[in-house]
Amino acid sequence: KAYKITVLPGDGIGPEVTSAAVRVLEVITKHTPLQLEITEQLFGGASIDAHGVPLSDGTLKACKEADAILLGAVGGPKWGVGPVRPEQGILKLRKELGLYANIRPASFISENLLQYSPLKESVAKGTDIVVVRELTGGFVSVGSSVLSSGDHACFAWVWGRHLRPTTQGELLPQDFGDKVESSSVSGAHASDLCVYSREEIERIIRAAAQIALAENPPLAVTSVDKANVLATSRLWRQVATEIMEKDYPQLAFSHQLVDSAAMIMVANPRKLNGVLVMENMFGDILSDESSVIPGSLGLLPSASLAGAPDPSKTVSGIYEPIHGSAPDIAGQGIANPIGTILSAALMLRYSLGRPDEAAAIEAAVRKVLDSKAAGGLDLRTKDLGGEANTTEVADRVCEQLEKI
Ligand code: NAI
Ligand code: MG
Repeated sequence: KAYKITVLPGDGIGPEVTSAAVRVLEVITKHTPLQLEITEQLFGGASIDAHGVPLSDGTLKACKEADAILLGAVGGPKWGVGPVRPEQGILKLRKELGLYANIRPASFISENLLQYSPLKESVAKGTDIVVVRELTGGFVSVGSSVLSSGDHACFAWVWGRHLRPTTQGELLPQDFGDKVESSSVSGAHASDLCVYSREEIERIIRAAAQIALAENPPLAVTSVDKANVLATSRLWRQVATEIMEKDYPQLAFSHQLVDSAAMIMVANPRKLNGVLVMENMFGDILSDESSVIPGSLGLLPSASLAGAPDPSKTVSGIYEPIHGSAPDIAGQGIANPIGTILSAALMLRYSLGRPDEAAAIEAAVRKVLDSKAAGGLDLRTKDLGGEANTTEVADRVCEQLEKI
């Protein structure tokens, strides 16, 4: 069977980095039985220019039919102020595909990069953290999809007039999400709400456990919450404990409060090595924190999944580097393609159940970034203080992959 991959190059450096990653995928298909049917679609600003909308029906259809999606980046000054913006395409696509698990690994693919970390080398060395962020509920929940019956934990900071009296299970985000979003902030009061259902917690914990199992040896799982204060966190902790004890007894599992996790992440990040799974806003913050540890924005991949990774079936997802469209360097051919190449590796591991091919790509990238002294090539783009261009890095990664 040929897997269908839809590539959305997007804007700015997006097309430069996705074409590098596609070349790497083509090397994989040349040397393994894996078959990929790769097609490109307009998305973001490029789609606004062509069709007036950031996500056309045609692109949406191609994404829904695909086994996985590889995205470059969208946006840029050209579309910054209009009523129709490229970023709306990403939000709509996430919703249409039902993506609920956002995954951001932060690790040193090469020790040669330790010098770019804002942390001392001795502290940063060996950091290998995968943040799994719940993407549909929690503090930034507006119109969550799976809330259904009872079993909700609600937590409301109520300063003002927008909320009706809250009792457990009564207040659904749909009831007032739009109102909160569009309400005027000129008044004296505002409020936000954190809502989770058992089902939402259960599926993200399962996704985290499956991500831990996709590595060999499996990773430890840490659930991050604020159970000493928040009702949603108490439900979170209860459900997480149940699922992990019942279905994943083989995985190391522990809980960590979010504030201390933030501290440990800069003081001794190795202590958090493994999968950290958490609520939407906690994940927004801690994934940004973890992503600076390895130094360059251009290096890190991400995934957003519509299900738990499962070696026995394909799981839909969007794979993209964590960086944006970098308009300041677009068109110069100097963007670092490694975040996108590693995103393609994650795609093989999580969506297509191909951990060996994923590891081969990662090993090839490591070889390219390792120092010459260590037998590597030490080939770096400008963001890493080097002079290599996008194509050269892709060429070398492909060459290394041919040797594996
Ligand atoms: P950015 O990540 O595009 O760029 C920040 C800085 O990092 C720039 O100096 C850029 O040159 C550099 N940089 C980023 N990726 C690089 C790479 N692969 N190689 C070398 N250098 C790299 O963030 P910025 O400037 O805040 O946003 C630019 C545009 O991208 C905006 O329109 C923003 O909305 C959009 N954006 C899109 C995202 C997405 O598509 N998921 C995510 C973040 C921003
Ligand atoms: Mg953020």
